[in-house]
Amino acid sequence: MKEVVLTGIRSNDEPTLGNYIGAFLPMAAQAKQHSEQYAVHMFVPDLHSITTPIDYSQLHTRTMRNLSLFVACGLPLDNDSIYIYRQSYIPAHSELTWILDNFTGFGELSRMVEFKDKSAKLDNDRVSVGLFNYPVLMAADILLYGAKWVPVGEDQRQHLEFTRTIAQRLNNQFGLDLTLPETIEKQQEFVGRAAAPRIRSLKNPAKKMSKSVDDPAGTILLSDNPNDAYKKVMSAATDDVGAVHFDWDAQPGITNLLVILASLTNTPQDEVNEHWTGTTQYGEFKKHVAQSVYDCLEDLQTRIASVDTGAIEQHLQKSEQHMNQQANKTLLAVQKAVGLRT
Ligand code: TRP
Repeated sequence: MKEVVLTGIRSNDEPTLGNYIGAFLPMAAQAKQHSEQYAVHMFVPDLHSITTPIDYSQLHTRTMRNLSLFVACGLPLDNDSIYIYRQSYIPAHSELTWILDNFTGFGELSRMVEFKDKSAKLDNDRVSVGLFNYPVLMAADILLYGAKWVPVGEDQRQHLEFTRTIAQRLNNQFGLDLTLPETIEKQQEFVGRAAAPRIRSLKNPAKKMSKSVDDPAGTILLSDNPNDAYKKVMSAATDDVGAVHFDWDAQPGITNLLVILASLTNTPQDEVNEHWTGTTQYGEFKKHVAQSVYDCLEDLQTRIASVDTGAIEQHLQKSEQHMNQQANKTLLAVQKAVGLRT
């Protein structure tokens, strides 16, 4: 049995250029690379999507659109070691969550930083029990398939630790044999290299480019008209240093553009930096970046439109059938352990 590499790909917001460079492209490339040695699980945590208020009428469409985007980024649908599936199509995720809930402390979940952050942004009556319970569902996602490799970002450290804790707790109490995911340090080693680039807002380069903050001029959506995107780059905030340098502290706006240019032209960062360092003509530099963004969107939008959605549906059905079988095995072992089945 191949070891499992498991990644959850959220689809709450409309994807931005930042998501494309920082997540979609590297994830599609890694999935292909890992599939030689591992079983690669890429699933859409759609049950997690409803833990905060969203436009529910769009959830299903958005999920399919994000999957099309992955395929447009090179994720293969015909690779036997890559499984793409939707969490809500595998009821064992919800079932196991409920059982794990009863071995999870209220205090334990209350200490989760992500919960505190997210709930602080919502009116009190909109902070749902689902949001509180988010880490338990995430633990179920991982434990059902015995995934050792869950390459998440630093922001998911506590959730990963929790998954290890709850698995260990059940193993100790019931003599179960749930596989613990590796620690976040091991996960980071596993992914290797520097983390994927994090693209900042074009208007406020101190902040991440994000659809969820109201920053239309600083955010390029993958659905933007390429001409509009070009203009957004041309009016990106820079600085009055007067010459281009790669320096996140002193010149975050310029540096952000250097990173975008390197990513979109598939050129090593050093090479791009070398070419532009010292240039005093910000306008000329911006035109190059703007053109690379224009070309990227135009090409990507064509590719997304030509993705075979029927093939995605077929892949989903096949994967989900297979995953239901796998997940139900783990679920049954846990159900037996806690006396729900004999
Ligand atoms: N919480 C993850 C994130 O915010 C998404 C996610 C849900 C996930 N379930 C998971 C990631 C299981 C890895 C494994 O990115």
